[in-house]
Amino acid sequence: MPTSLAQNSTPPIHVLVAGASRGIGLALCAQLLARKEVGQLWALARHSDTPELAELGRQHAGRLQTISLDALDEAALAVFSGELQARGIKLSLLVSCIGLLQGEGARAEKSLSQVSLESLHASFQHNAFAPLLLLKHCLPLLRGNHPCQIAMLSARVGSIGDNRLGGWYSYRASKAALNQLLRCASIELARLNPQSCVLSLHPGTTDTALSRPFQANVAADKLFSPAFAASQLLLVLAGKTPADSGSFWSWDGQPIEW
Ligand SMILES: NC(=O)c1ccc[n+]([C@@H]2O[C@H](COP(=O)([O-])OP(=O)(O)OC[C@H]3O[C@@H](n4cnc5c(N)ncnc54)[C@H](OP(=O)(O)O)[C@@H]3O)[C@@H](O)[C@H]2O)c1
Repeated sequence: MPTSLAQNSTPPIHVLVAGASRGIGLALCAQLLARKEVGQLWALARHSDTPELAELGRQHAGRLQTISLDALDEAALAVFSGELQARGIKLSLLVSCIGLLQGEGARAEKSLSQVSLESLHASFQHNAFAPLLLLKHCLPLLRGNHPCQIAMLSARVGSIGDNRLGGWYSYRASKAALNQLLRCASIELARLNPQSCVLSLHPGTTDTALSRPFQANVAADKLFSPAFAASQLLLVLAGKTPADSGSFWSWDGQPIEW
């Protein structure tokens, strides 16, 4: 059994995983539900009615609730959060795996000439704005004085200091924006809940729908399974306390420069 979730939360805890319908988010749901300390898990995605989540629901009867919701839809977020508030629920862990690299208007540009307003827009909407709006509407479920972690999947390519290859203008810039937004949120959250910890995380290159078109040059031992990435991320989280809030970490526990 892996290390327990961080910060001495008192079980059973409430967890929200956004971007839960596939890839790393789905693997996180499976691993979190395997932990007895997780009492209730909300799995959110635009299309959460997947066979994989349905199967998890069958395995963990009563502990998994799927929510089909676009995190860019503030009205829907307000309704979702309001329902949890009405039940007096506080979240101990909020993980966002929402992200977009290519498709739905987004493009992994190789050069400036490929940049378009449409791609910038789509990338910023899904990679930066959606996670922030989710956090905004979940604030009532996070504020107070209970241990809570907010982990958002960013990407190493969002690091400005680490950028030596260029390219992927929209994706890189939108993940850099996410990092800045989370840093801001960590400062505000520290006032609203002194036991909060807000983290940007890089999962490593992982075999999912998002990375599939770009895996040709990735060595087999550098391409993680979603289950491996999820277990590494949970290990990283287990070691983090409010003193770490507002920082950026890699799957292997190493810090990443902004
Ligand atoms: N895979 C990698 O190699 C890699 C590397 C570095 C960083 N990351 C980051 O890690 C995160 C997870 O990546 P992944 O590879 O697991 O991606 P993925 O398989 O494409 O999953 C993305 C998830 O986000 C959901 N989603 C997208 N837009 C949404 C929205 N507006 N509202 C609600 N849900 C939304 C998708 O479900 P629906 O389509 O049903 O909404 C899906 O569940 C992303 O932030 C990605 O940028 C991945």
